[in-house]
Amino acid sequence: MTERGIAHPPTPDCPTADCPTPDFYEYPWTALSSACLTAHGTADLAWPDGATLECHPTWLRENAPGPGGINLATRECELDPAHLPADLTLGRICVAGGALDVTFEPEHRDATFHPGWLRHVADDMHQPFAVIPAPEPWTAASHPEPTTYDGPATLCDDDSLETALCGLARFGLIRLSACGTDADTVARLAHRIGAMRDSNFGLTWHVDVDIAPTTVANTGLRLAPHTDLPTREVPPGLQLLHCVENTVEGGWSTMADGLAIAEHLRDCEPGAFEALTTLEWIFFNRSPDYDHRWQGPVIDTGDGRIPYTYRAFHPVRAFPAMAAADVERAYAALGLLSATAASNHFGMRYPFRPGDIVVFDNRRVLHGREAFEPRPGIRRRLIGTYIDTDEFYSRLRVLLRRSPQEIPAHG
Ligand code: OGA
Ligand code: ZN
Repeated sequence: MTERGIAHPPTPDCPTADCPTPDFYEYPWTALSSACLTAHGTADLAWPDGATLECHPTWLRENAPGPGGINLATRECELDPAHLPADLTLGRICVAGGALDVTFEPEHRDATFHPGWLRHVADDMHQPFAVIPAPEPWTAASHPEPTTYDGPATLCDDDSLETALCGLARFGLIRLSACGTDADTVARLAHRIGAMRDSNFGLTWHVDVDIAPTTVANTGLRLAPHTDLPTREVPPGLQLLHCVENTVEGGWSTMADGLAIAEHLRDCEPGAFEALTTLEWIFFNRSPDYDHRWQGPVIDTGDGRIPYTYRAFHPVRAFPAMAAADVERAYAALGLLSATAASNHFGMRYPFRPGDIVVFDNRRVLHGREAFEPRPGIRRRLIGTYIDTDEFYSRLRVLLRRSPQEIPAHG
């Protein structure tokens, strides 16, 4: 059940008709049923449906709306922790019109807290991934091609963008069709999401078979399933790739879900999974002008709170950073990973048509390209850019903020 409400209390005699929150969201007025002081000085809050929240007085003090607490213009806390009274207590605590009313001592300062804001904390809706759709593993059977959205609508309409970005959060890969072939379209789409991430390849970069190849990307050779820029401490989150010209035969795109592959290896090839997630390599980009290096495992499972980060690009994987005795099994695991990502079960393959833009999670999805013959006169031109995952999640939260907050039923 979902409970929806209004942003302000319904009764005209309510003392909290104007009850700002420490953010820019509109919360339903989920009135409290009780507020009590505990034996150790915290506030114990309860709602009629059984939800509860225990609040430390100093945390409430920091979040008290108004001067010396939450600045109402910025909705940020003005208080230097050095100035927080060490002997801060809650002198008075009650529910007024459904809101929490307290007096902080020894300041004698009154504060009122919006019950909907408190409730969103009780419901864990303040957690970083609370509103972001959860990742769903996929294979080529469930996803023979990228989930596709209307390009022009996504480029100009926020509801369409929200739908597409939800798909991106779930599957780590979407395709926008009929985007045209203007050279600035990928940057226009990127600006709809967030700040583009620069690199030594430029803010936007070209994959172009016509230019003298200084990288394998600009040849007709196959690109095995990989992730870009594993030489960086944090590899780019999103990659946007726009096909503006393509007259080659072959050269189909490939994509495989690193999340599904990791789950498969963990369950069916635990030795390889252990090697891929623990044995480290030094990644190094071997350029006359740049020397990016980073060390890490090929599959970085993070700390359980952040998504996986694949570092899978053999041209820049330079040195084993592991005991000599581990190197052989590290290579065996790499071979298994690459073959698994290229298998018909995990890897989708599809033609990359002019006007299509793919957007994918470069730390989750392994992308690649089949080989083609670079004959004279043929054209194949892609324009790409990167955006950090933080920008994507921020944009999606703001888009989702447009609809009223949904308070999940308790229990
Ligand atoms: C790359 C790349 C894809 C393609 O250059 O890193 O993945 O289809 N290119 O050429
Ligand atoms: Zn690539």
